[in-house]
Amino acid sequence: MNTSTSGAQLIDGVALSQKLRTDVTARAQALKARGITPGLAVILVGDNPASQVYVRNKVKGCQDCGFHSVLEKYDASMTESELLARIEALNHDPAIHGILVQLPVPKHINAAKVIEAISPAKDVDGFHVASAGALMTGMPGFWPCTPYGCMKMLESIGYDLRGKHAVVIGRSNIVGKPMALMLLEKNATVTLCHSATHNLKAMTLQADVIVAAVGKRNVLTADMVKPGAVVLDVGMNRNDEGKLCGDVDFEGVRQVASAITPVPGGVGPMTITMLLVNTLEAAERAAP
Ligand code: GUN
Repeated sequence: MNTSTSGAQLIDGVALSQKLRTDVTARAQALKARGITPGLAVILVGDNPASQVYVRNKVKGCQDCGFHSVLEKYDASMTESELLARIEALNHDPAIHGILVQLPVPKHINAAKVIEAISPAKDVDGFHVASAGALMTGMPGFWPCTPYGCMKMLESIGYDLRGKHAVVIGRSNIVGKPMALMLLEKNATVTLCHSATHNLKAMTLQADVIVAAVGKRNVLTADMVKPGAVVLDVGMNRNDEGKLCGDVDFEGVRQVASAITPVPGGVGPMTITMLLVNTLEAAERAAP
């Protein structure tokens, strides 16, 4: 699944996803033989076009792996209490092992309140404070899908993080912060950079591994990368021609790095794959 090029090795998220999803499908079959079909409920409130694509892909991923899935779409006028009531019902639905509310939700709904309403046992996004606390303390729980996918990509190239310096750019609750904790758990020395960081280049030049998760083009350019570093690009942006691109200047950085994830076809597909892994695990944990 890793393709050599003139510069860096490409870490192919499509191929790795296929491999992992084959394993997920087999495990789902084994669970079905015991009378349990992994089930995911996906809730979308409003008609954000990007969210519509994401939820469709999540449901399709479930179908491809033989999961049960339900997509509940609601008008943007849905009230917070109506949404909380739906989550409460799904918390008690034995056919549903994972619950995902697609973000962002409309402004009149408190996203934090919604996330905390999901049972931690069904929190396959890994966004609940109980999941965050479990990650921080090394307890069993669900890891957020995007950084979890990044860890799988490093594992796929046999990269040993022990003692390595990892620099994460971006401190979101969904990617940057959990990413730093996962890298730390694998014994890397971690620097978490953000918008107030002085001299980002001085930080990234020291890094053996760089994860770019800002949501802005060209945050990382070749002059900021130590030769031989491994670069993971979490960004999903559009360039001037409207083409999908990451946070990393791919053409420049691939000449310097030893391995790099492309956009598209890198971290993106892994996010849904890890959602399927989490949902399967939720079902396995719930099995008698
Ligand atoms: N919006 C953007 N990414 C995500 C995600 O991973 N999960 C949810 N629930 N909403 C999102």
